[in-house]
Parts: sequence; C-alpha cells; structure tokens
Amino acid sequence: MKLFTDKGNQHSLKILVAAELAGISLEIEHVDSAAIVVPFLKRNVLPVLEVETNEYLFSANAITRYILATVGKDSEDITVSTWLEWESTDLQAALSSYLPVLYGGGKADSQKLQPHLSKLDNSLGGAQFIVQDQLSAADVCLFAALYPLYANSKSCFENFSNLNAWFTKLHAEPPFGASVAKVTEGKGSSSLKASILAQPLVNTLPVARSVSNEKGKSSKDKENSTTEEVVAKEFSLEEVRAAKETFLTGKKVAPKPVQRNHPLLPRKDAKNVLITSALPYVNNIPHLGNIVGCVLSADVFSRFCRIRNYNVLYICGTDEYGTATETKALEEGLTPQQICDKYFKLHDHVYRWFNIDCDHFGRTTTPQQTKIAQDIFWGLHKEKHLLEQKVEQLKCEDCDRFLADRFVEGTCPLCNYDDARGDQCDKCGKLINATDLKNPRCKICNRTPVVKSSDHLFLDLPRLESRLQSFLDKSTTEGDWTSNAKMITSSWIRDGLKPRCITRDLKWGTPVPLEPYTDKVFYVWFDAPIGYPSITANYTPDWEKWWKNPDEVQLYQFMAKDNVPFHSVVFPCSLLGCGEKWTLVNHLIATEYLNYEDSKFSKSRGVGVFGNHAEQTGIPADIWRFYLLFIRPESQDSYFNWDDFVLKNNSELLNNLGNFINRGLMFLEKNFGGLVQELKLEQLDCQLLAAVSQELKQYVSLLEKVRIKEALRHVLNISRLGNQHIQVTQPWVLVKGSPEEKSRAGTVTSLCVNISCLLSVMLHPYMPDTSKTIQEQLNASADVNVLTGDFVCYLEPGHKIGTPKPLFAKIEQAQADQLRNQYAGKND
Ligand SMILES: *[C@@H]1O[C@H](CO)[C@@H](O)[C@H](O)[C@H]1NC(C)=O
Ligand SMILES: *[C@@H]1O[C@H](CO)[C@@H](O)[C@H](O)[C@H]1NC(C)=O
Ligand SMILES: *[C@@H]1O[C@H](CO)[C@@H](O)[C@H](O)[C@H]1NC(C)=O
Ligand SMILES: *[C@@H]1O[C@H](CO)[C@@H](O)[C@H](O)[C@H]1NC(C)=O
Ligand SMILES: *[C@@H]1O[C@H](CO)[C@@H](O)[C@H](O)[C@H]1NC(C)=O
Repeated sequence: MKLFTDKGNQHSLKILVAAELAGISLEIEHVDSAAIVVPFLKRNVLPVLEVETNEYLFSANAITRYILATVGKDSEDITVSTWLEWESTDLQAALSSYLPVLYGGGKADSQKLQPHLSKLDNSLGGAQFIVQDQLSAADVCLFAALYPLYANSKSCFENFSNLNAWFTKLHAEPPFGASVAKVTEGKGSSSLKASILAQPLVNTLPVARSVSNEKGKSSKDKENSTTEEVVAKEFSLEEVRAAKETFLTGKKVAPKPVQRNHPLLPRKDAKNVLITSALPYVNNIPHLGNIVGCVLSADVFSRFCRIRNYNVLYICGTDEYGTATETKALEEGLTPQQICDKYFKLHDHVYRWFNIDCDHFGRTTTPQQTKIAQDIFWGLHKEKHLLEQKVEQLKCEDCDRFLADRFVEGTCPLCNYDDARGDQCDKCGKLINATDLKNPRCKICNRTPVVKSSDHLFLDLPRLESRLQSFLDKSTTEGDWTSNAKMITSSWIRDGLKPRCITRDLKWGTPVPLEPYTDKVFYVWFDAPIGYPSITANYTPDWEKWWKNPDEVQLYQFMAKDNVPFHSVVFPCSLLGCGEKWTLVNHLIATEYLNYEDSKFSKSRGVGVFGNHAEQTGIPADIWRFYLLFIRPESQDSYFNWDDFVLKNNSELLNNLGNFINRGLMFLEKNFGGLVQELKLEQLDCQLLAAVSQELKQYVSLLEKVRIKEALRHVLNISRLGNQHIQVTQPWVLVKGSPEEKSRAGTVTSLCVNISCLLSVMLHPYMPDTSKTIQEQLNASADVNVLTGDFVCYLEPGHKIGTPKPLFAKIEQAQADQLRNQYAGKND
C-alpha cells in the first residue's frame, strides 16, 4: 500500500498512527500539495492511499479505519462512527477557518473552536479513551486533527483538563510520537504551515443531504428532500413569495442608470452627495494605510452612491503648502513648486492605477485657494473671531528664518539625549517644546538659533464653542459618524478649546492679506481643508452650489483618525465664524490604522508596500483593492499580512467568488450554447432568491452607513450561497437525465448566471475591473448597473452570454514570500 501526501499534512498523521498501531509499513510518496493523485477526481485531495494499483481511498478517516480493520483493530461501536463524522464536519469546519489564520500569522479568533474543545473535554470526563476505554479510530483521528493546535502552542488545551490529559498521554505513546516525528520531520509547527495553507476550506454552511437523482422521481419529491435543510426556517412563505415576485417583475420598473455629465451640480430632484477624501500630503508617496483610509474608502462609497443613482461629486487632490514641502525641497535641491509638481504626478499616477475614480483630482497651490482662504479669513476678521498674540520662537539669524520644529535639533531637556527633534525626543518619546531644547541647532546650517518673539494671529475657538457644540449635536445624531470620530471630537472639547495660531513665518503658503502680517502665510491646518472647496472651484465656477448649500447637500468626509480634530472642530469653526452659511460635514468617516506585517509602515526604513510598489508587484489593482477593503481598519487597527493576502486571494476570490461565476457561465456555455434558459422556479430556487435578497438588503443598508468592510462580507455570502445551490442541485447530473431534469439544470444554471449579474453590480464599488469583466462575459447591458435594493432578473430567457474565462489566478506562496522579503525594510 502506498500513501501519497504533501509534506507536513496533518491528516496523513492519522494514517501513519494507524499503520504503526497495525504494525504495517507504508510506502510514502511525497507529492506537491496541488497534485492530483486520483485520476478520476478533478480536485486535488490529499492524503490518498493506493490500496492496489488504481484503487484509491481518499478520506483520511476511512483510511484509518481500513488500516485498523486489516488487523482486526477497528471497533464496530457506532459511537466511533459518530465521533468520526463529528470530526470531519463540525470540528474540521471550525479548524479550517482557524488554522490557516493561525499558521498564516494573522490574528486567529479561537471563539468558534472553544465549544468543540469543550464538548470533547466533557465527553471524555476522566476516561483514557474517547469510546469505552479502548483505543479506537476516534482517538487517532481526533488526536491528529487537534495536533496542529498543540504544535503551535503547547498550552492550547490548558482550560480543558480532561482533553489535555488524554492528548498528552497519547502523545507520549510510541505509535503517536513516532508518527508525529515522521510528519513534522522533527521541525515542529513550521513544517505543517505550507500544507495547512494549501488545504481547501471546509464549507461551513449547513449542508443539505444529497439530492436523489433516481430516474422517474418527480421534481416535487426532490424539492421536499432538500428545501428544509438548506435555508432551514429562515424565511417565511411570504418572504419567499415576495422575493420571487420581485425577481420576476422587477426589471420592468427598475430605473436606468443616470448618466454622469460634467460638471456635476446639485439637483433639486436628487439626493446630492458631496464626498471628500483627506488630501494626501504631497511630499511623500502614500502607503497602503493612507490609501485604504482615505482615497480608496471614499472611492468605494462614491461608486456605491453612483449605482444607487445618487447625484455624487467626489473631490480629492494633493495638499501642497507647508514646512514639510520646504524641507523636502531643501533635501532634493529643488524649489517647493518643483517638489509639488513632481509629487503631484506621482500621486495622480498611483491613484489612477488603483482605479480611484474621483470627479476631480486637484491641488491646493492655486489662485482659487488663495481667494477662498483669504475670503474666509476676512469673514473671521470681520466677525471678530481673531486674536493677536506674541509667540516665542527659535530663529536662525544666519539663515534668516524662524525655524519650524522640524528644522531644529538639540539636547532633550528631559533625558539629555543629544539628538532630540524639535517636537519630540526619539529616546524618551516625550513631546517637547523647541524653545526648551538645550544646545539647539539649526538643521540647515548647524548654527545656534536664538529665541525671538513674533506677532501672530489666533483663531478664537473658545468664542465659537457654543456654536460648534450645537452643530456637533445635530450632525453626530443625524449623520453617520464613526465612533472613533465622535470620541476624538468630544475628548478635544472636554479638554477645553484654546485659541489656535493660524499664521506662520514661512514663505511657502497662502499669504496672509492683513497688515502687518503680510510677510506671513496661513498655517497648514487652517489652509489645507480649504482645499476641498478650492479644488471644487477649479472643477466648476459654480462650486458654491455644493459648498454653500447645507440644505440640499450631504457632505461625507473620509480620513484616518489622526485628522479628525481638524475636520470636526477646527475647520467647522472657521466656517461657522466667517459669516456665511457653509455646507458642513454631515458624515465623518475615520479609519483606524493599518499596520504592515508586525510593524508600522516606514518610508525611511523602507518597511511596507507603498503606492508605487503595488503596481510593480504585477498583482492587479482589483486584487489589492479587494484585500485592503477586506481588512479595512474599520473599528480597530488591522494588519497587512502577505500570507493572509494569499489566503484571502485564493480562498475568497478564487475558490468562492471566481469559482461560482465561472462555474455557472461555463456550464451554460457548454450545455445550453450560452443561452439563458426558461426559468421554472421551484421552491428551493425561491428560497435561494429570498436568501440572496436578504444579503443584498444587508449590503445596501451597511454601505448606506459606510460600513465598507462588513458589506463586502455579504457579497461573498451570496457567491457562497450560489456555490451551495449548485452543490445541492447538481446540474451536471441533471443535464444527463430526462428532459424535465435537463430543463431543471437549465433553470438552476440560468438562475446562477442571473446571480452573477447581481454580483457584478455589487462588486463594482470594490473591484471595478472585475465587475466590468463579469459583465462582458455575461454580455449584460450597462443598464444593470443600478442597485435598488431588490434582486431583479436582468437576463431574460434567450439572452446570449459572452465568453466565460476564469476571473482570478492563484497567487503562489513563493511569490508572496519573495514580495515579503522585498518590502521588509533594510536589515542592519
Ligand atoms: C511651549 O512653550 C510655550 C512658551 O513658553 C508655552 O506657552 C507652551 O505651553 C509650551 N508648550 C508645551 C507643549 O509645553
Ligand atoms: C453572511 O455574512 C455575515 C457577516 O459576515 C455573517 O455573519 C453571516 O453568517 C453570513 N451568512 C452566511 C450564510 O454565510
Ligand atoms: C434570469 O432571469 C430571467 C428572467 O426570469 C430568467 O428568465 C432567466 O432564466 C434568468 N436567467 C437566469 C440566468 O436566471
Ligand atoms: C449580447 O446580447 C445581445 C442582446 O441580448 C445580443 O443581441 C448579442 O448577440 C449578444 N452578443 C453575443 C456576443 O452573444
Ligand atoms: C491573487 O489572485 C490573482 C488572480 O486571482 C492573481 O493574479 C494574483 O497574482 C494573486 N495575488 C496574490 C498576492 O496572491
């Protein structure tokens, strides 16, 4: 007998233990994890036992019993079968979603696993073996199933003393210990990783009993044998009937997509949505965390609004003024304007590559910026919201300039570290005041600066506080503010608002128009948010119809959490105090941070993937978008992890979504000449319609609230439901049967193709290229790109689809390993 297995396969452990117990020696052949060993199986299954030439067993549990039975050691006890079935369904389902994350280096959540461990622990009591104090296949198979947990952490069964005692005892027995050594080659958990990551996911949906395909059985019987288990009792007859009705008749009343004609302006008859993404700072290349937090999130939401037929304007651009640009210019030996031009091009290119579809991508260094910023300033001045104060600052007399914090270095006044920066000490981490540095040095000429005082203008935030508070009360209750945005804002206000300086002694900025401050510029936090209206003004001279129209426009602003106070407190105060009625933020959407593998993105250390790298990897933009949105740091920080990227790419995109769409289309192409068939909906199909409708409704209501990451889960749910429907109805069997059965196959496939059409629309905000490809393969008209919240049938009988092709390719582990090394930063 010969065992075919990939290296480190934990299921082969079952077989090796059984062979040891039986005293049988097996010939082992190591094959690649993707190898197809059994010629008549299309998918690869490992391990496989070749019992005789061309006779195969390919269920590890069955093989275990078979081997034990050859020496009369397999127990007939029915409880053994029950445990083995439990192992292969319930336990493996929980493990198959847990182990790949654990071994892939992600944050594995063991919650779903705990009840299973607890069940086994209780059942064992203090017994030595699982069934009747006798070693059986149940012990062998459960031991092997749980071994990867133990290999990863010896203390994993700590809370389950019976389980722990049972496991430890077996592990010490030679047949078990020796087999573990064979599988892991003495290398512990690391030897299991590749195999675990390569194994297909066990479907965790409720599985229906197999459908009978006996000839002559009426379709009615089939219905009865399957419907209940699939979507058990979730939907009332009413819901099912309504879903069917909507599906069949909805197309007639469905609206057509609204054309996008520039310049877009608010309309009385539409929901007018104004969307901004935090303006990326121009002096650097954005990393993945910047991209997902701002431009990409805003892009998903604006694409969603467009397929909802809302009247959307999405504005973005680069923030170009300020000290950081001057610093960068000095570093690169260019003028600030040259730096801006250079990096503007880079940003523009990166966002185009990511398919960020804003209506206008502008910049802040324009005459419109000067005009609008100065108008707001004069408004604040006229309304007496500005104060004058003296500020002590370091000035380098040699360079003849006041030194911004980042232009000063010196000795930390707190810990005496001699290379502290002007705003913070890298050694003790404390924030410091540049004027408190001992032995300060000008970073440009290395000479000693002096303390000078200079007059500056301050925005009197305390005077605007009550107006701000009533605006916030209304906006945060009526709008969708993320909870971090609300928390950060209220903590700012709780700590007390202080006047904030709005001027700087710099050259590179919007000039202050008031004497005697005309040699100064506006401070960047005052200036930058004015970029939103000024970029709009570069798009259309009617920009005020968006920005001074709070009654007809809903403003959504996207940003990372560090930007919240400027958008929720400072910018609204500027607008509230300037004497005009501005459109103020209605929905403030802030993300947490995305980290890279185990650390922070760092440009200087070269850690992480930056915008321009993503393109260089050769991985398509849609795949990047999908993964970044799948792990979007929505309510907590998240981690970009290469292994997890590969796993999600291959499991969710390839095996779930891509597989479903390709299966239906290929089947229609092969068996029905690509023609959508007459739809004779049976109860089971209507149940599916109801389930799909429910997922769609959840998707719509989540995206309306900008819950981008969660909504994506429901897209994937639909293809999972579709895959399950195909699995249960088995059209490939039906199509070979009677004419009724063949027609049934036509219904099932045509329904799946219609679901693919719905998926193409739901995917549009996340993966626009893929959405387009699916629609090309469906030969669907552009009219399908509207989401009303109802699932309606768009592809009528007789519709001819296009050419089906696989949507996604597999990402190989080797490619991911190579990319991880490339972006891991410099080694010391
Ligand atoms: C920095 O120094 C100024 C002037 O001495 C003072 O008003 C301010 O509170 C200090 N800031 C911090 C963060 O210590
Ligand atoms: C659909 O997605 C939600 C959210 O991820 C999940 O809680 C639910 O169990 C899923 N349903 C199915 C049928 O997969
Ligand atoms: C799509 O829906 C149409 C409309 O009923 C239906 O006739 C056709 O068979 C369906 N095709 C699919 C793919 O369901
Ligand atoms: C696409 O669909 C249209 C309308 O149903 C049909 O006229 C056309 O022949 C189809 N195209 C292909 C390539 O089958
Ligand atoms: C993900 O899959 C796509 C196709 O689905 C493939 O082109 C790409 O290389 C894969 N990327 C990664 C990182 O695995």
